[in-house]
Amino acid sequence: MKVMVVGGGGREHAIIRKIAQNPQVEKIYALPGNGGIAKDAECVAIGATDLDAIERFAKENAIDFAVVAPDDPLVLGLVDRLEALGIPCFGPEKKAAIIEGSKAFSKELMKKYGIPTAAYETFTELPKALAYLENASAPIVVKASGLALGKGVIIAQTIDEAKQAVIDMMQNAKFGASGSTVVIEEFLEGPEVSVLSFTDGKIVVPMISSMDHKRARDGDEGLNTGGMGTIAPNPYYTPEIAEICRKTIFEPTVAAMNAEGRTFKGCLYFGLMLTKDGPKVIEYNCRFGDPETQVVLPLMESDLFTVMRKTAAGTLSFEDVRFSDENACCVVVASGGYPEQYAKGYEITLPEEDGFEIYVAGASEQDGKLVTSGGRVLGAVAKGKTLREAIDRAYQAAGKVSFTNAYYRRDIGGRALKALEETK
Ligand code: AMP
Ligand code: GLY
Repeated sequence: MKVMVVGGGGREHAIIRKIAQNPQVEKIYALPGNGGIAKDAECVAIGATDLDAIERFAKENAIDFAVVAPDDPLVLGLVDRLEALGIPCFGPEKKAAIIEGSKAFSKELMKKYGIPTAAYETFTELPKALAYLENASAPIVVKASGLALGKGVIIAQTIDEAKQAVIDMMQNAKFGASGSTVVIEEFLEGPEVSVLSFTDGKIVVPMISSMDHKRARDGDEGLNTGGMGTIAPNPYYTPEIAEICRKTIFEPTVAAMNAEGRTFKGCLYFGLMLTKDGPKVIEYNCRFGDPETQVVLPLMESDLFTVMRKTAAGTLSFEDVRFSDENACCVVVASGGYPEQYAKGYEITLPEEDGFEIYVAGASEQDGKLVTSGGRVLGAVAKGKTLREAIDRAYQAAGKVSFTNAYYRRDIGGRALKALEETK
């Protein structure tokens, strides 16, 4: 079969390596892919949001199955267009991708169906948002409703800061049209857990839990990034909590989407906060998380391509999805300066030995060499019987990656290790 994967980051690299394990998969195209993915798939220079070109490519190349990985093409309706051509897809249709594409929608959905989340109000008019803040107390959270590359969330420590965030979004259009509608919500506290799941619209099968590290610097300091590293499983996510999440969040969300006539098929990502009042939803994503995927898929024992096809066909069963009881860690190696200014074009040397995976995110091929082309350059991923072992191995791998101004956090998984010690 010929498979097309839309996207070009570390997440897509991990998906492609896993799909390639299925003997039925003869050919994988990555649109656009990247310099590292080029070793595992044929990269085609078509951007993930160039829907017309993607549609044309799929038709001309008789694609049998498509995986749409990033949020933008999903929210723009790429799956609808490919399905109209008769190409089965892994990923939700436009009307279901709105669960990530509009926070105003997802918050309303949770309120309507009693799914636990932070209390909130939605605003489309600046004066009303400012008036609301007059009577609110800090800290408080201001979110652009639309997609904003994970940057449209401001945790305001004071009401003045919250007002400035609202003005930046609604008046100064800091996040473009994404910020014309703003959600202001209660500040929640507790450990965060990412749970990716497969759902075919009938059942929802959670994958192994994980923990992202969003801040740029050690000790969770510095700016928010697309994610500097991950570990799986997340030690805060106990079997008891998983059962509460299944009953109060996962199944109700899938049922709510069905009731709204927006059946979700694909990977539904639950960003959760374990508060003292129980688990609450921080955000939904309509896709695999990045860099969560880079630790979740290496621990998946079942065949990803089969699971994806069954998810698309609506024939998924619980037995289809199995995970090992090992641990995994991903250390993101970035270009110094990220998430602000950073240089590009540095040659990358990768470790040669086996025992870990390198998933490339921001690199391109130039004259046969791999050079940096993005802020987050790659993820060094390793597994271990214990979390400590997985972390140590991932750091060994990261230490052998070299390019000018390479930077990575030194404390990925540190908090998780502490949590494990505390529960001993
Ligand atoms: P999001 O892009 O919605 O995942 O938000 C980015 C990050 O902001 C989350 O991972 C949380 O750490 C934080 N965050 C979002 N909403 C809240 C909230 N209501 N209370 C506390 N922290 C939040
Ligand atoms: N790691 C968070 C995300 O993919 O949105």
